[in-house]
Amino acid sequence: MGRPKISIIGAGAVGATTAHWAVAKELGDIVLVDIIEGLPQGKALDLWEAGPVEGFDSRIVGTNGYEETVDSDVVVITAGIARKPGMSREDLLATNKAIIGSVVGEVVKRSPNTFLIVVSNPLDTMTYLTKHMSGFPRNRVVGQAGVLDSSRFRAFVAEALQVSVEDTQAIVLGGHGDEMVPLPHYCTVSGIPITQLLRKEQIDKIVERTRKAGGEIVALLKTGSAFYSTGAAAVQMVEAVLKDKKRILPCSAYLEGEYGLRDICFGVPVKLGEGGIEGIIEVELTDEERAAVKRSAEAVKKSITGLGL
Ligand code: 2OP
Repeated sequence: MGRPKISIIGAGAVGATTAHWAVAKELGDIVLVDIIEGLPQGKALDLWEAGPVEGFDSRIVGTNGYEETVDSDVVVITAGIARKPGMSREDLLATNKAIIGSVVGEVVKRSPNTFLIVVSNPLDTMTYLTKHMSGFPRNRVVGQAGVLDSSRFRAFVAEALQVSVEDTQAIVLGGHGDEMVPLPHYCTVSGIPITQLLRKEQIDKIVERTRKAGGEIVALLKTGSAFYSTGAAAVQMVEAVLKDKKRILPCSAYLEGEYGLRDICFGVPVKLGEGGIEGIIEVELTDEERAAVKRSAEAVKKSITGLGL
């Protein structure tokens, strides 16, 4: 049988932290790939040497090439540059297009049946690029954004209500940009809509903070963007696929008419299991939410056009 193979492309803060969360859950063996000589090897060795303390038997190897990624079960793409203060995710497009383009070619050559999880920004556009470059069916390419955005939303709700984060649920739809669409009336605490627990002004504040939460961290860090929460969110998706959990998670998926949208990767509730994207759920939206989805989709479409594919 052997353990599942999870390749993580990019050994920066997000890639290394994704590896960390993945071995903490003993989800499989890890191949950490980066072009910087010594970086993936050093981080992989260091993480592997934590195994006896933490009790995981996962093998972790670091490499500057792609040979070790052969026949990966899941590949997480974190390669590319991150935002600095004052930059929008869109400012990363040209640089990350070139990087992701070459990464995808290397990966799919060696793992033609793998499942691809994209984490690089601008997220929906890079997911679209990955789908395009890989030639994979849509069930095997997904972008990580909604799990992170919803986790932030949930953290803020839990803090406002002084309740456990575990009892919070939330959906954030749309593109992973400032136009993202948090859906407060689908946000609950143990099934109780937060609209019954928080005042409108409190909810509006949480929605606004969620939209800007990535930027809040960039402004604090100054040299990069979020990685603990980003890595944890990616690993939740890896786990859903490898354990066939059939979780319902907000993810960026290639749409073929859902939500009235086509030829776009966009954040929607997805069923994630061993078949990858096993379904997309279309939730009822208010007129206001529909308008917000439209605005967000227009922003993503514009970015995708910028790829010049
Ligand atoms: C974020 O929202 C980096 O886009 C990522 O923090």
